[in-house]
Amino acid sequence: MSVRPILLLGDPRLRLAGAQVDAFDKQLAELIDDLVHTMRAAPGAGLAAPQLGEAQNVAVVEAHGRIYELVNPRIVRENGDQRDYEGCLSIPGYVAEVTRREKVWVEAQDRRGRLYKFSEEGFLARAVQHELDHLKGKLYIDYLDSLDDLLPVVDGEDEDPEDPANSPKRAARERRAKAARAHSH
Ligand code: NI
Repeated sequence: MSVRPILLLGDPRLRLAGAQVDAFDKQLAELIDDLVHTMRAAPGAGLAAPQLGEAQNVAVVEAHGRIYELVNPRIVRENGDQRDYEGCLSIPGYVAEVTRREKVWVEAQDRRGRLYKFSEEGFLARAVQHELDHLKGKLYIDYLDSLDDLLPVVDGEDEDPEDPANSPKRAARERRAKAARAHSH
């Protein structure tokens, strides 16, 4: 188990689709453990194997004390919409508002190959959709009309010099910073 470097935007390996996993062996277990350790060290709420340079259909999501091992995951049903800030550990320092499905139903396998199903909504549904995109070589910035929609988490330029403590822009920035801590994958 180790914390591994996370590939950053611009690395072409982030754009590779993950290959179907057929071998539920020690290497897969080690990859899942590395994903969990690297995700927690970041810290983040999820991490996908392509972010470690491994083009395999494997990701992890953690929230509320629960870890989902997502091997060969697929969304089998989805419902509703939600819009919120979203960040990615491969694009550090930025977030953007992204519309996702509010609720998803997922089928996946765990490290032993056991098929399981679950449904999640809200934040966890967002995290799952973000990770499944990584497995297709897709990043959340692909949903933006323009990279101008990308917001820096820390940005002193929009400080209100008259009243920096109560500036609405400051409040918005703090909301982005909070989102980046909680919603990076
Ligand atoms: Ni990500």
